[in-house]
Amino acid sequence: MIMTAPVLHLHKVERRFQEAGAPLEILRGADFSLWAGQSVALIAPSGAGKSTLLHIAGLLERPDGGDVLIDGRPTRKMNDAMRTALRRNNIGFVYQFHHLLPEFTALENIMLPQMIRGLRRNEARERAEQLLDYLGLKARGGHRPAQLSGGEQQRVAIARAVANGPGVLLADEPTGNLDPKTADHVFSALTTIVQATGLAALIATHNMELAARMDRRVTLRGGLVVELP
Ligand SMILES: Nc1ncnc2c1ncn2[C@@H]1O[C@H](COP(=O)(O)OP(=O)(O)O)[C@@H](O)[C@H]1O
Ligand SMILES: [Mg+2]
Repeated sequence: MIMTAPVLHLHKVERRFQEAGAPLEILRGADFSLWAGQSVALIAPSGAGKSTLLHIAGLLERPDGGDVLIDGRPTRKMNDAMRTALRRNNIGFVYQFHHLLPEFTALENIMLPQMIRGLRRNEARERAEQLLDYLGLKARGGHRPAQLSGGEQQRVAIARAVANGPGVLLADEPTGNLDPKTADHVFSALTTIVQATGLAALIATHNMELAARMDRRVTLRGGLVVELP
């Protein structure tokens, strides 16, 4: 492994969609590097391609051109099983809507990805309890998602995303559904986790105040990632 490689590197990434005949060029050779311990805000208008970029970075979708490197490892030629394994171990994803499993408790939702990875129940439970405690949700472990507030649901979703100790956290407008005060709380939880674990985060957001607290800000312009001051 190359120790000096960024944890996430997009290399000339292309993505186009076929829209009623004319192809819609969303990414046109986008380059982007994310280094360990860094938090980066992705700020761009609706429809600019933020979700597309995050899905490609998270190995949930394949680009039409270019490559995504995780810890310096190119993924283009990997088969789906290899990509899934890499994603499970190295990448955490937080969506705008929490996507927690409704029939499981908060604790179980955080335990599941760890057990899928092969951890024993007790180990998974211990780590899940630590994370809940860390996010100020110690008393909420036995609650199902429907019994939690929007902010609590998102904090559980963050705990689930980092449960396997990924190097990269990708979040797609994680506070988009929340009122300003709750959004602030959830965002603080995110940055605390990023700082405490040394993981890297790329977070799409419309909230300039929250973006200002991050190490770097980037946008999408003409299908490329452009650094903002
Ligand atoms: N699967 C798809 N098929 C066709 N068009 C798509 C698809 N996914 C996204 N798009 C289009 O690509 C553009 C970028 O979408 P998206 O990445 O969701 O933007 P953002 O997250 O910045 O709002 C939009 O115009 C959207 O309609
Ligand atoms: Mg989006």
